[in-house]
Order: sequence, then structure tokens, then C-alpha cells
Amino acid sequence: MSTDTFTLTDNQTGASWTFPVVAGTQGPDAIDIRTLYAETGYLTLDPGFSSTASCASAITFIDGDKGILQYRGYDIRDLAEHATFLEVAYALLYGDLPNLEEKRKFEKDITHHTMVHEQIHSFFRGFRRDAHPMAVMCGVVGALSAFYHDSLDIRDSRQREISAHRLIAKIPTLAAMSLKYMLGQPFVYPRNDLNYAENFLRMCFSVPAEDYRASAAMARAMDKILILHADHEQNASTSTVRLAGSSQANPFACIASGIASLWGPAHGGANQAVLNMLQEIGHVKNISTFLAKAKDKDDPFRLMGFGHRVYKNYDPRAAVLKSSCDAVLDELGVADPLLDLARELERIALEDEYFIDRKLFPNVDFYSGIILKALGFPSEMFTVLFAVARTVGWISQWKEMVEQPDHRIGRPRQVYIGQTCRPVLPLAERPQRKPQAIRQQEG
Ligand code: CMC
Repeated sequence: MSTDTFTLTDNQTGASWTFPVVAGTQGPDAIDIRTLYAETGYLTLDPGFSSTASCASAITFIDGDKGILQYRGYDIRDLAEHATFLEVAYALLYGDLPNLEEKRKFEKDITHHTMVHEQIHSFFRGFRRDAHPMAVMCGVVGALSAFYHDSLDIRDSRQREISAHRLIAKIPTLAAMSLKYMLGQPFVYPRNDLNYAENFLRMCFSVPAEDYRASAAMARAMDKILILHADHEQNASTSTVRLAGSSQANPFACIASGIASLWGPAHGGANQAVLNMLQEIGHVKNISTFLAKAKDKDDPFRLMGFGHRVYKNYDPRAAVLKSSCDAVLDELGVADPLLDLARELERIALEDEYFIDRKLFPNVDFYSGIILKALGFPSEMFTVLFAVARTVGWISQWKEMVEQPDHRIGRPRQVYIGQTCRPVLPLAERPQRKPQAIRQQEG
């Protein structure tokens, strides 16, 4: 904690108030305005939270100007190169990378929970086969709280831990089931002699008629993608999980809320949108037309996989994926013209004034879809894979919040801009108006 303070002066009355400044170990300090309203009668207004730290957290650090991302102080490039996804999950949950003994125990704990209650199979069958797998995931993950009553007491640290382990263990099983359900193939049970990525790929791609073993290259590529997506401090879905959890909702319900938030195309849904966009562009000769659309304020089209609220430099996750793309496609023996198209699109956009002025760089979603496609996933599954990885971050952030002694229910305020108090007129005296739809069209 810093001893610095920040003084606010009201220009009209000359009154002034002093607030403490909280210093982080890295990154900007924050003015602690918890008492602002009580002391001054003013609220702060920050839609989109560009200048608001919603919590103090020791999990993930981003320096958006320098393009730095660290989990628990470990650089993302270092982790992607030298750690496994379950080691990263351990670090996010408990603070440090595990030693050998901790790693073995954690892997055993997670493995112990990979199966789902058999009744969940019936639950799946209630969905239409053509449902988007993210819609299915929102439902089934939320429904886990109806199956695991014995780990819902969030005041009990052991129950919190069991729920965290269950979520990390079961989310790949559920994700694979959502793929199998969409394809009309039988569900594949987990195999605990395989590592996390191998087991997940097998549950996705094996069929009863033919067993399947992921190659080392595929498993490593999958593991790397999971590491890169595991956490990203207080983004929309993580903030959703924290806000849901602040009311003491159970962790399965909170993670389901995170999945719902992640689904949006401005967030985790962008990876599917990037692939669709590349397919739509189709050829290098069409790039300029699409860039012009992206720059046109009257056109809602945005260059998917570009831009980020925090990164005003190259997203370090995109850098790792870009350099992995060639190696992975080579190892898998896949030649994808979309990779050349993506590279050319990036090159042209990064030389364009519009993108330079606004500091718009490729984000994690720009190259991930190409690798996921090479691994054999249909594009509807891309955001589901993001959710598999991010579950670790969500549950770590949820656990950190619940364990902080000063945590309170999240309850933002507002500046009210609606009608002031007015009487309810009898129906016959209420004014005649054009229908709502016409009024909306007229603006
Ligand atoms: N294409 C064209 N223009 C863009 C783009 C884009 N992808 N992104 C931002 N801009 C423009 C925007 O129109 C605005 O221009 P102006 O100042 O002239 O009005 C300026 O850049 C600032 O953009 P913003 O909308 O204020 O930025 P934001 O922080 O609110 O939005 C974003 C961030 C990621 C939602 C946005 O960049 C975007 O929609 N990108 C495309 C979707 C995408 O790739 N999302 C994945 C994000 S990374 C993975 C994740 O965390 O989920």
C-alpha cells in the first residue's frame, strides 16, 4: 500500500477531499474512491470501465503499451514455451508454478474429476442438434450446480477447492460432448492415462469404430493454445464471473455467466468471426475492400481479431500464435491458404494510417482460429475452446475474490437521465403517439 494521497477540489465551493492512492507492484496506481460518494455526494461515471480498477488482484498483469502479459509474474512467452497447461492452472489457482510433487498431486486431483454425472448425458439430449455449442455450454455448465451439491458452500475452503478442480477437470469433457452432440456422434468418456490436451483431443476426435491418439505436435499445440487463453485480468467475462460471484452465487453458476459473456463477438466470439471473415475475404485482392469497410464509420464491419481495450501494442499472445502457426501447420502437414491471407491482411493493416493512429494490432483471436482449424475443429467450437482455457482464469479470479476479507457484493451506481417524477394519467388522457417501431426508425 502506498502512503500517497490524491486531493480533489470542487471548483464551485472550494471544498477539497483527500483520498488514499493504492500502489500496485507493477502498472498504474489507483485512487481509492470507496468513500467518495459518502464524503462528496458525487459518483464517478466510467461506462466501459476504461479508468476503473474493479478490484486488487495478484493473478495476471498486463502492460498494454509494452505488450506484456504475465500470469503470477511469469511471462506468457516463457510459460507457453516451458510449462504445461495444468502447471499454469496450478500457478493461477495457488500463486506459483508447482514443484514435482505438487504437480503430480494436482494432476491426480484433476484427473480424478474428469467424468461427469451420467445423468448429464440425458441433459444434453434436450438440446437441438443444431444448437451452437456455446449455447449448450452455457446450459450444461450452469446445470453442474444441480449435480454437485456437495461442493456448493462457498464459505468452506475445501468445497471451493473441489469445485475449482471439478470445473477444470470437467470443462473439457463437456466441451467435447458439445462437439460430439453437434456432430451426431456418441460421447467419448475421458481417459485418465492421457494428459489434459491429449485426453481432450481424444474425447473430441475418437469414435467407437476407431480409437484415436493425438500426435505429440497436436497435443502440444492444443496445450499452448490453452495456456495463452487461460487468464487475462479483468476482461468482460472475468468481471462477469466476479460480479456474479459477489452475490455469493455458487461457482458453477458464476462460470456459466462467464461463458455467456465470452460468447459475444467483441470478446471470445471473435475467433470464430475471424475465420468467417478470412473466408469471406477469400483472396488477397479483396483485402482493400474489406479494410475500407472496417474504416468506414457508417459500416458496422470491424476487422475481427484486431484491436484491444488494453493492448496498444502487439498482443503478446498473437505473437506466440503467429510464430507457432507455421510450425504447427508444417508438423500437421496442413497447408492453409487462409494463413497467407491473414499474414497479408495484417501486413497491409499495420501499414495503414487508420490502424496506426488508433494503435490497432492483431489480438489473440487473429491467428488462433487457423491453428484450431488445422487441429480439426469446426469454427463453432473455437469459442468453446477459449472457454475451456479461460475456466481456469475465471475460477482463480473467483477464488481470489471470495477469499479477500473486504469483498462485498458488486453494485455499480448510475447517473439517472430519465424522466423526473410525473403522475399516472388515466388511459383516455394519455397522449397519442406514433407506434414505437416507427419512432425508433425516425431516431
Ligand atoms: N476494426 C476497425 N476499427 C476498429 C477496430 C477494428 N477491429 N477496433 C477498434 N477500432 C476503432 C474504433 O472504431 C474506434 O475508432 P474511432 O476512435 O475513430 O471511433 C477506435 O478504433 C477505438 O476503438 P474502441 O471501440 O473505442 O475500442 P474498445 O476498447 O472499446 O474495443 C474491441 C476493443 C476489442 C472490442 C475492438 O477493438 C473490436 O471490436 N475488435 C474486433 C473484435 C475482436 O477482435 N475482439 C477480440 C478481442 S481480444 C480477445 C478477447 O479478449 O476476447
